[in-house]
Amino acid sequence: MQTLTVALSERTYPIFIGEHLLTQEHCFKPYLKAKQILIVSNTTVAPLYLAQVQATLNAQGYVVETHILPDGEQYKDIAHVEGIFTSLLEKRFNRDCALIALGGGVVGDMTGFAAACYQRGVSFLQIPTTLLAQVDSSVGGKTGVNHPLGKNMIGAFKQPVAVLADTSVLDTLNDREYAAGLAEVIKYGLIRDVPFLVWLEDNIQGLVARDKVLLAEAIARSCQNKADVVAADELEANDLRALLNLGHTFGHAIETAMGYGVWLHGEAVATGMLMAADLSWRLGYLSAADVERVKRLLIAANLPVIPPDSISSAEFLNLMAVDKKVLAGKLRLVLLTSLGHAIVTADFPLATLEKTLAAGTQLGQLYD
Ligand code: NAD
Ligand code: GLY
Repeated sequence: MQTLTVALSERTYPIFIGEHLLTQEHCFKPYLKAKQILIVSNTTVAPLYLAQVQATLNAQGYVVETHILPDGEQYKDIAHVEGIFTSLLEKRFNRDCALIALGGGVVGDMTGFAAACYQRGVSFLQIPTTLLAQVDSSVGGKTGVNHPLGKNMIGAFKQPVAVLADTSVLDTLNDREYAAGLAEVIKYGLIRDVPFLVWLEDNIQGLVARDKVLLAEAIARSCQNKADVVAADELEANDLRALLNLGHTFGHAIETAMGYGVWLHGEAVATGMLMAADLSWRLGYLSAADVERVKRLLIAANLPVIPPDSISSAEFLNLMAVDKKVLAGKLRLVLLTSLGHAIVTADFPLATLEKTLAAGTQLGQLYD
C-alpha cells in the first residue's frame, strides 16, 4: 500500500492506494470518530462492494446504515441529495455522524455535498471505485451536483477525512469507464508533468491492458499531482487549481448539450483537451506535432477526440459561457503554452475560438 498526503493544515488527510483496502480496519478506524455511519452508494456498486465495507465497519462496532442512489450522471441533482438528507433525518443521525461515499465520481460528489450541508457539516470519507474517481474526483474536496442549465454549478468545498483507493475494485469496471479515467490521468501530464507525460506515452498500451504495476504507478503519480495542486490552491483562489480544468469547459458543454450521462465525463474531457490543444496551436503556443502527440495518446487510450457534430458552434459558445472560470462576464480557458505547461487566459480572439469549434464540429478534423 502507498500512502500520499494532502497537506491542508488541520484538514490534512491521507490517500491510501493499494489492493484489498476495503477489509483493512486501519484504513477506517483512525479517521472515523463517529459511531453512526451512513454509507452512500449506488445500485451498481452496492451489490459488488457494500457488504465488504459493512462487515469491516460492523466488526469495529460502528452503527452502519446505507443509502442507495440510482446509478447515473442524470441523477446527480439536488433532489437526490435531498434523499440523502431524508435518510439521515429519518435514521436520527446527529452532527457527530460520518458519511462514506462508496462509488465513482457521481456518488463521491453527491455524498461530499450532503456531508458539507447536513447540520452545517459532518465528516466524510471517500472510497472511490472508478479510475476517474481514484485519480481525480475523490481528492481535493470539490463536491456538488448538476443543474439543468450547467454542469457542477451547485456545490461546496468539503475535504474528506481520508481517501481509500482500492485498486482491486477496478477489476469490475468496464473498458469504456476505465478509458474515461485515463483521460484525467493524461491531463496531469499535459498541464504540469512532462516526465509523467512521456511515461504515459511509453506505457499507454500496458495501461490499456490494465497492467497492475503500471496502473498503481499511474494512480499514485496522478494523485500526487492533484495533492500538490490542492495543497497550494485549495479553494481555487488563484489560477493554479483552475489548470486542473484543462478541456473541461469544452467537455462540460458536450456533457450538457448531449444530456447528462450520454457522453462520459472523461470522454468529454478527452475531446475537450484536444480542442484546447487545437486552440493553443492556433494561438501559436503549440506546434502541429505537439497537437498530434496529444491526439495520438488520447486515441491510444481508447478515448474520443472529435466532438458530436450535433452541437453547433453557437450552442458550444452558449454553454461554455456557463462556467465557473467565467469572471466579469469573460470566458477564460485553460490552454497549453507547451506540452506540460498550462495557463488560464481570456486572451484569445473569439474568431480563433470559433475556428476551433468549427474545425471540431463541422469538419470533424482539428488543426486542419
Ligand atoms: P460514475 O460515478 O458515474 O461511475 C461510472 C460508472 O461506473 C457508473 O455506472 C458506476 O455505477 C460504475 N462503477 C463505479 N465503480 C465501479 C466498479 N468498481 N465496478 C463496476 N462499475 C463501477 O462516473 P465517474 O467517471 O467515476 O465520475 C464522473 C463524475 O465525477 C462526474 O459527475 C464529474 O463531474 C465528477 N468529477 C468530479 C471531480 C471533483 O473534483 N469533484 C473531478 C472529476 C470529475
Ligand atoms: N477536478 C478539478 C479540481 O478538482 O479542481
